[in-house]
Amino acid sequence: MPNLAAANTIYRTDYTSPPFLIDTIELDFELEPQRTTVINKMQVRRNPEAKYSPKFQLDGEVLQLISLHLDGMPYKNVQIDETGLTLYEVPDAFELTITSACEPANNTSLMGLYLSNGHFFTQCEAQGFRKITYFLDRPDVMARYTVTLRANKTAYPILLSNGNLIESGDLADGKHYAKWHDPFAKPSYLFALVAAQLVALEERITTRSGAQKLLQVWVEAHDLDKTRHAMDSLIHAIQWDEARFGLELDLERFMLVAVSDFNMGAMENKGLNIFNTQYVLANPQTATDIDYTNIEAVVGHEYFHNWTGNRVTCRDWFQLSLKEGLTVFRDQEFSADMAAADAVNAAAARANQRIENVRILQQTQFTEDAGPMAHPVRPESYVEINNFYTATVYEKGAEVVRMYQTLLGREGFRQGMDLYFQRHDGQAVTCDDFRQAMADANQRDLTQFEGWYSQLGTPYVSVRTRYDEAAQTYAVTLAQHHKPAPNALQVVRAPLLIPFALGLVDTNGQDLALQLDNENAPGAATRMLELSAAEQTFCFINVRRRPVPSLLRDFSAPVIVEYDYTDDELIFLLAHDSDPFNRWAAGQQLATRTLLTHARQAENTQLNTHETNPALIEAFGSVLRNPTLTPAFRAQVLTLPTEAYLAEHMDEANPAAVHAARQNLRVQLANALSDDWFAIYAQHQTPGPYQPTPAAMGQRALKNLALSYLTDSEHTERTLHLAQTQYDTANNMSDRGAALSALIHLGGELAQAALTDFYQRFENEPLAIDKWFAFQARQTRAEMDVINVVRTLLRHPAFTSKNPNRVRALIFSFISGNPAQFHAPHGAGYTLWAEQVLALDTLNPQLAARLARLLERWRKFIPPLREQMHKALETVLASAQSKDVREIIHKALL
Ligand code: ARG
Ligand code: ZN
Repeated sequence: MPNLAAANTIYRTDYTSPPFLIDTIELDFELEPQRTTVINKMQVRRNPEAKYSPKFQLDGEVLQLISLHLDGMPYKNVQIDETGLTLYEVPDAFELTITSACEPANNTSLMGLYLSNGHFFTQCEAQGFRKITYFLDRPDVMARYTVTLRANKTAYPILLSNGNLIESGDLADGKHYAKWHDPFAKPSYLFALVAAQLVALEERITTRSGAQKLLQVWVEAHDLDKTRHAMDSLIHAIQWDEARFGLELDLERFMLVAVSDFNMGAMENKGLNIFNTQYVLANPQTATDIDYTNIEAVVGHEYFHNWTGNRVTCRDWFQLSLKEGLTVFRDQEFSADMAAADAVNAAAARANQRIENVRILQQTQFTEDAGPMAHPVRPESYVEINNFYTATVYEKGAEVVRMYQTLLGREGFRQGMDLYFQRHDGQAVTCDDFRQAMADANQRDLTQFEGWYSQLGTPYVSVRTRYDEAAQTYAVTLAQHHKPAPNALQVVRAPLLIPFALGLVDTNGQDLALQLDNENAPGAATRMLELSAAEQTFCFINVRRRPVPSLLRDFSAPVIVEYDYTDDELIFLLAHDSDPFNRWAAGQQLATRTLLTHARQAENTQLNTHETNPALIEAFGSVLRNPTLTPAFRAQVLTLPTEAYLAEHMDEANPAAVHAARQNLRVQLANALSDDWFAIYAQHQTPGPYQPTPAAMGQRALKNLALSYLTDSEHTERTLHLAQTQYDTANNMSDRGAALSALIHLGGELAQAALTDFYQRFENEPLAIDKWFAFQARQTRAEMDVINVVRTLLRHPAFTSKNPNRVRALIFSFISGNPAQFHAPHGAGYTLWAEQVLALDTLNPQLAARLARLLERWRKFIPPLREQMHKALETVLASAQSKDVREIIHKALL
């Protein structure tokens, strides 16, 4: 193991330009499940910009080479190994024709060409193309593709690839063919093909330049009734990118295809986006509100990649956030604009989006940044690039892009985007190029901003305030610092440029008009302070009474704020802050504080179950009853921080103590506010047909939160009745799912009956069956031994390790969604984890590595758990084969 890093690590600073370029590629596929033959004809030339290389190295993995011709003649001066081909003494420009074969039916990695439900699909990002044919499989080599697909017509009536269909017809022996040409040069990671039995929902639209476009959503025939929402989302995304960024769809046709077996969410292959079914298929019976929301976001995300990713791509994989951070930011803005457009209260709808995004950032990225996989938004090194499709690259990357907009304004950001496309359309570029475009378009020096790409770890901003009553001044001192990097990672630190939005709330609950000591008139209520030094003081004048500071409004930077609020100040902000994000944040901080205190008590003594924080309950109760707040916002406030988030905030994570504390507070909130919960439940019904609008979703979120709290109240019978009635009468999955999960939590025969009913009802809907597995894996009833439930479900005929969605539904849901049960003191959870990582390691290394990561924070836990986790990690280390898993375990144990 010690040599793993040295031998296989790729470093960012080792980048060199490709010695050869490939301008065009013609691919000819003879698609057979057991053995697919690929003829690959490429026009190759030396790259005038690169250092001269006497040899030409092509990437290729698990391929059988059949023949190789250079300018039409068999070529023998070649060496093959398991990473590819090396050709010696090649001319400066030549045509290379390589025939090779691969075995889609034996490809369980879901990278390259593989089968799903008996049909052909591809996934090439990041380095899957080399499992299809020999090529320069790197994003800075961009070629024009012409692709011919041949296959049996009955089994695979639909043949798709990137770009435009230029020819198709029948062949002998029951076969047919289709020929596709993509007019845009692209890197190999954007290549795709599909050969399957599918049907499409189609729409024809006219874009703003008057061009006609064909849109298709391809699915299996029985799923056609679940495509409308994806199509609507696609149309909205196209319109939004025109309106907000002036970016138009550049192809005559744009296709989405759903596939059941997929490692990630979706993939932005040029003109042929391939989606995990989970992010395409929705009808009211099978999909929840969250599914509808996610589909809109992911469809938008992949579509937006057409410009941010495809038209301008990454020079190398270290620049991944160039496209992913930017595109996540764009999909977040899209979702926010869509929600706001449909809402009565647009600001509240936006805040709701922001809260959701930040919740995810704080739960996943902040944790990643504090653990052994911590890396900058632009990583410096990797062993397996698939391990770097992370919350840091995606979610922190999106926050970094958002900060440009925060610093430069919407207009300035738009100008930066325009310049970026003007300069780099058709190119493979770096994060620095993006930053430079933002800087130049706004005549602003953004040199310091580079730190956001190069420094790992979550910055802390500690705040000190000083009110001088006599002078009527209020001084705010901001100081930035970092916690020591994990695993003794060597890091260079310099102060970051941090946009820090601040407001001062007067005792009457109103914002003050802010005036700094160098200004002659008061200005806006929210000030965007720019913290660029290690420490800076901002002095506000004409402050008549001591205000309460509202810090980092709308989460203006991805940092952790340290300020000693009193409980009363937090309660005050929760009630009065004009910034809805900070209202929510104040509530969460208050709850976190109470919960962590109780968790510490639960560790030492028995937690006194009647003890709680009455002020907190009253504050939450007022929010719950406040009719001027949207139901969605009230649901956000009343949703307690997750157990994983709380455990991360203990000095030593103790999942059992956290669970006891959180459960206790839930019981307190359930009982103290039970009249309110029942009233809320009754008031927020959504009669009539299901509608996935923000307003209706908010009603359901609050109503189902009420139901969930009531399952922890003393009104068991009444709640059981509500849950059972809701389960029986629901016309949508949000309500039926929430009712089922309430019944499971209440336990007993009704729960069993509902689980049986749910399974039978949805036997032919894999995405609903995934939920059936997940609900059971997440159940937290104290007297249930959930690990045994999971073990039993692993043997259920509907469980298979070959389907990533199913694995995530059962195994990942249990491990990350049920910490108290997973971390049960006997350590059986860790045994299960090790077993499953090793089972997946050979089948699907990418998924195995994701599972492996769920134990990377082992050092954070209390000693008895830590020791058992350590053993489990050692077990995996002893047998893991894939470099994906080995990289994770190696870093975890460093
Ligand atoms: N680019 C895809 C996206 O939209 C993710 C593809 C990741 N695939 C992988 N094998 N790592 O985010
Ligand atoms: Zn993406």
